[in-house]
Amino acid sequence: MITLGIESSCDETAIAIINDKHEILAHQLITQYKEHSIYGGVVPEIASRAHLEYMDVLLKQALVDAKIKASDIDVFSAGIGPGLIGGLIVGANMAKSLAFALNKPFVGVNHLEAHSLMPMFFNPELKFPYLLLLASGGHTQILIVKDVGNYELLGSTIDDACGECFDKTAKMLGWEYMGGKDIEEFAKHGNPKAFDFPRPMIYSKDLNFSFSGLKTAVRTTIEKFGENIDDETKADICASFQSAICDIIEKKMKLAVKKIKNLGIKHIVTSGGVARNSAIRNVLDKIATSNGMKLIVAEPKYCSDNGVMIAFAGEQNYLKGKTSSFSVMPRPRWPLEELKNE
Ligand code: KG4
Ligand code: ZN
Repeated sequence: MITLGIESSCDETAIAIINDKHEILAHQLITQYKEHSIYGGVVPEIASRAHLEYMDVLLKQALVDAKIKASDIDVFSAGIGPGLIGGLIVGANMAKSLAFALNKPFVGVNHLEAHSLMPMFFNPELKFPYLLLLASGGHTQILIVKDVGNYELLGSTIDDACGECFDKTAKMLGWEYMGGKDIEEFAKHGNPKAFDFPRPMIYSKDLNFSFSGLKTAVRTTIEKFGENIDDETKADICASFQSAICDIIEKKMKLAVKKIKNLGIKHIVTSGGVARNSAIRNVLDKIATSNGMKLIVAEPKYCSDNGVMIAFAGEQNYLKGKTSSFSVMPRPRWPLEELKNE
């Protein structure tokens, strides 16, 4: 069985073609970094137009790479939310049109489900249920992944997402948008104890997160240094900031492991762009090892938005008998827990 997946929820236009042996036949991705970086963030209108411009180029190339015709594809899927509505419409319409013209099924994929299932594509030994830390630019959640379409939310951010906090800190330090990776790079050369940043809600007994107080503390510190902040200070701020994030995640994931201890869960999984961060991976790895569990993370490039994750989630939904009607609407907001009732 061959599945095509289209990702267009934010600033990456991506198309992948996979088969049911967990093989990638084609993987095309264009990041719109150039288009948005001068504005310091993603401009939805520009993103939609860029998706429209890149989409058929990527489709043609993906078919060439996979050495197949569009009619050889069995299932057409696209991310239909959550995300920026203009981009979602472009991707959804492309997949729907192909499915309609070729008389094939269409699957509208939840973007968060695609991130959540991605590690399974590369690690077939990973079985349901597993404990998931989903950390992207827009979401920070701890979930039990019970099955395709079946998620139990244990905790979530009550304000900013973890990735958003990385991005805003990077911006305050003068770096371009989506600066999480720059913070990680600078943190390698800094002192994590140089600044005593707050760890909001670290003592609360629930599994919810809060990052906005940390962001404000970082802003106040950066403002104190003014324009002349040197690279050494930036490195110390990054290391101290990342250490605060790691402590918060460590505390909440330890609580989560305690909470699920009688459920026989063997794996901790992390996904979403922030899962690329090796300091966070190390924290999770230690928690897993000390609790007789194993950490599973997708390869870094597949933690961030990509077409393979959409194709895989599309395939998994199709195998469960879940296809979408051509009238399904893209959704800017679409919490994972709602999938159970659909
Ligand atoms: O999952 P993703 O590619 O897009 C969304 O669905 O949001 O995640 C993007 C987020 C951004 O906030 C980006 O700064 C963050 O992932 N990110 C990182 C790293 N690489 C990407 N955050 C921390 N450390 C990294 N190495
Ligand atoms: Zn994402």
